[in-house]
Amino acid sequence: MTEAPAIAVSTNPHYQRLGGQAAVAQLVEAFYRAMDTRVDAQAIRAMHEHDLAPTKAVLVTYLSEWLGGPRDYTPTRGAPRLRRVHQPFAIDAPARDAWMACMRQALAETCEDAALGAELEAAFAKVAQAVVNTDSPFTHRSAS
Ligand code: HEM
Repeated sequence: MTEAPAIAVSTNPHYQRLGGQAAVAQLVEAFYRAMDTRVDAQAIRAMHEHDLAPTKAVLVTYLSEWLGGPRDYTPTRGAPRLRRVHQPFAIDAPARDAWMACMRQALAETCEDAALGAELEAAFAKVAQAVVNTDSPFTHRSAS
């Protein structure tokens, strides 16, 4: 007897392929650890608060949703508008590259599936490019 496939099969398998909530949390931990320690990430680390805990928590909810997991971000933060939330920060190409270096390191440390890691890296690169908002490292949009 042939049965119809279960409808509950995820429409976006990235969340499950990565390993669910625990894996997303590990990725975010590794990402901010990289940002905290890499010399090439000092400028973007300085854009963040000293205490990264609240930022980590938000990124976990965002990435869970973005990867096809539970929709935890939108109900609390509203529909994602990443260009808008990054507007207060001067994000140039080196900032984008530093962010990607941190994410690449985090994926290498926490994602055992190399093919998945490569897919995610390509997807992150598109978002990182989309939040670039200045050509110049000397443009400071924040109040300080
Ligand atoms: C390209 C370089 C990037 C820089 C320099 C950057 C920097 C920042 C900074 C300084 C914040 C504020 C943190 C806080 O308020 O605690 C932030 C928030 C955030 N970033 Fe980025 N970011 C970059 C790229 C990305 C990318 C590629 C993604 C997603 C894949 C992302 C997702 C987020 C999210 C979800 C938030 C929180 C938004 C909210 O408050 O609801 N960022 N980012």
